[in-house]
Amino acid sequence: MPKSIPSRVLDGQRALVTGANSGIGAEVAKALAAAGAKVGVNYVTAKEQAEQVVAEIAAAGGEAIALFADVSKEDQVQAMFREMLAAFGTIDVLVNNAGLQRDSAFHEMTLAQWQFVLDVNLTGQFLCSREAIREFLRRGMVPDVSCTLGKIICMSSVHEIIPWGGHANYAASKGGVGMLMRTLAQEYGPHHIRVNSINPGAIKTPINRSAWETPEAERSLLTLIPYGRVGVVADIGKAAVWLASDDSDYVTGHTLYVDGGMTLYPGFSTNG
Ligand code: BGC
Repeated sequence: MPKSIPSRVLDGQRALVTGANSGIGAEVAKALAAAGAKVGVNYVTAKEQAEQVVAEIAAAGGEAIALFADVSKEDQVQAMFREMLAAFGTIDVLVNNAGLQRDSAFHEMTLAQWQFVLDVNLTGQFLCSREAIREFLRRGMVPDVSCTLGKIICMSSVHEIIPWGGHANYAASKGGVGMLMRTLAQEYGPHHIRVNSINPGAIKTPINRSAWETPEAERSLLTLIPYGRVGVVADIGKAAVWLASDDSDYVTGHTLYVDGGMTLYPGFSTNG
């Protein structure tokens, strides 16, 4: 893994990361905290995992709280934001990370499988972004904290643009996230709110364990990744810190693929 120098680019900022009890979300929460942010660690299941993330952040000298909410439920999202603001005063960074898969051949997909994935992956980003933007607008600019009114990072996927058989609900939700992100960036740019997305490729987390846990599976997965390694959560944490910080001040409406080249159609390197 590449070396990196710890920096405190988020000192004084307050961040909320949804789905932060495991996988990419847990790492993003820790990375933002290590960069100086106070962090709300959202979870809907596995409270003890969220508390573990909070404990690890505290042990490293940071500050965090666990926040319950099903991001697809309006009343729960609003209650979570009230708790976040009561604890930290305001919010400067929202990371819309919560997401899941309910895979099925399309002709066998139930409406419940379709709706569940759309509700969490897309409606969840709508509900959380709306609350965050309301608070950014209410609070106004605090130049000592950041030169923006606020930042939103949407966790999307390579499957925002790579069609994915057997996962139509997931791919459709991520396609929606891309357009939600760009529309918010356009609509709120004049208010100095930046909205970007991180589009991970195959990152070793529980969501895709079957794709990397045996040597055969990993070998097969690597045929899709020109850079020759499966991603790790730290790859995403570092990108999130940069997008959350003023270092990326002129970047908005951007889709940052962190995928080892998965979106480069590697099959064409020896064909076509
Ligand atoms: C999915 C993973 C998958 C990766 C690359 C992600 O968005 O959640 O299951 O391994 O895309 O295909």
